[in-house]
Amino acid sequence: MNLSIKNKNIEIFCGTGGVGKTTLATSRALYLSRIGKQVLVITIDPSKRLKQVLDIDESDIGKIKTIDSDLFYQRKNAKKTSFDALLMAPLETLKFINQLNNISNNMQNPILKILMRPSGGLNEIMSIVELNRHLQSNKYDSIILDTPPGQNFIDFLEAGEKIHNFFDKSFMEIFKKFSNQSDIKSHGLFSSLVSSGINKLLSYLEKVTGDIFVNNFIDAMISIYKAKDSFLEALSIQEQLKTSKKCNWFLVTSIEQQKITEALSLKANAKKYINDDIHLLVNKSLTPFLAKWELNAADEDQLLNLKNILLKKEQRFKDMHAHGFKQVLFFPEILCDSPKRHVFELNKAWEN
Ligand SMILES: Nc1ncnc2c1ncn2[C@@H]1O[C@H](COP(=O)(O)OP(=O)(O)OP(=O)(O)O)[C@@H](O)[C@H]1O
Ligand SMILES: [Mg+2]
Repeated sequence: MNLSIKNKNIEIFCGTGGVGKTTLATSRALYLSRIGKQVLVITIDPSKRLKQVLDIDESDIGKIKTIDSDLFYQRKNAKKTSFDALLMAPLETLKFINQLNNISNNMQNPILKILMRPSGGLNEIMSIVELNRHLQSNKYDSIILDTPPGQNFIDFLEAGEKIHNFFDKSFMEIFKKFSNQSDIKSHGLFSSLVSSGINKLLSYLEKVTGDIFVNNFIDAMISIYKAKDSFLEALSIQEQLKTSKKCNWFLVTSIEQQKITEALSLKANAKKYINDDIHLLVNKSLTPFLAKWELNAADEDQLLNLKNILLKKEQRFKDMHAHGFKQVLFFPEILCDSPKRHVFELNKAWEN
């Protein structure tokens, strides 16, 4: 039996590829909305499965969309609920920051567009900014974050350090000089650069790529520099992620040995960024089904044996990992091929 887990301001779902992070994160959002919580689920998953699960259109990416429980079930007398969902689009986050701070930037800058693509390297950093923005709004009881697998998850954890380094280094001081000047060229671009190393690099780049590229590059850096305050403000998130009072961590795995080994290695790599309230969610498990499987004397011995062997196997797994986690929770394998149905069935598993 799962012990029902109290919701926190931030809830993070992480794990390796394809184990069910997005499905379980969405099921948690549905469950929390059903018990009356205001919930936002943000996905920084580049595979955009949430888009399919929640019927999110291309035009809704980067914007908050309200999802009605009707999408998952329509039962007479069932209480209707809803939760908000957001598919990360870094360029939209930057646009929002610009509006908030009254910053005018050329959002058509090609380098900025590349950097802000979901795979452009800033997705994880921008998601920290986005998370901070919604925490500040105090609109939600819980903000659920569905993270990408593997290295991108580590990038997310390191986002705070990256923000810090980016704005702290003398590299950025160069762009600070330019950020108050509208026309870079007229101010003698290279002559006013403070670092000779960067000077050399940019002159080399200019020779190879032409001055349009270099100007676009500098323009893009200035755009990011102008949004500095919003980035630095988001650094406080890093501390909240380490606080049990603020954040629940859910490490998702399926029951295969390979997936478990990968999950434990991810946990070890993430250790310095997370808190001790980490729950291991074992997805696609048989335990919930087996536990309810009632056999009577007329049943064949083999069936009884099979039930006991399978139960014992999963229980042994639980015992093996119990010490490293606050709880080990089993989520059943759902025998149908509709992802919406998976979300609906799994939302019930959070109740117990
Ligand atoms: N308990 C379950 N029973 C049956 N199918 C499931 C279950 N959990 C997830 N699935 C299905 O498994 C597939 C992968 O799930 P999901 O996309 O949530 O994984 P993920 O960890 O988010 O993947 P990625 O690493 O690509 O982001 C989906 O088709 C989903 O509907
Ligand atoms: Mg996913």
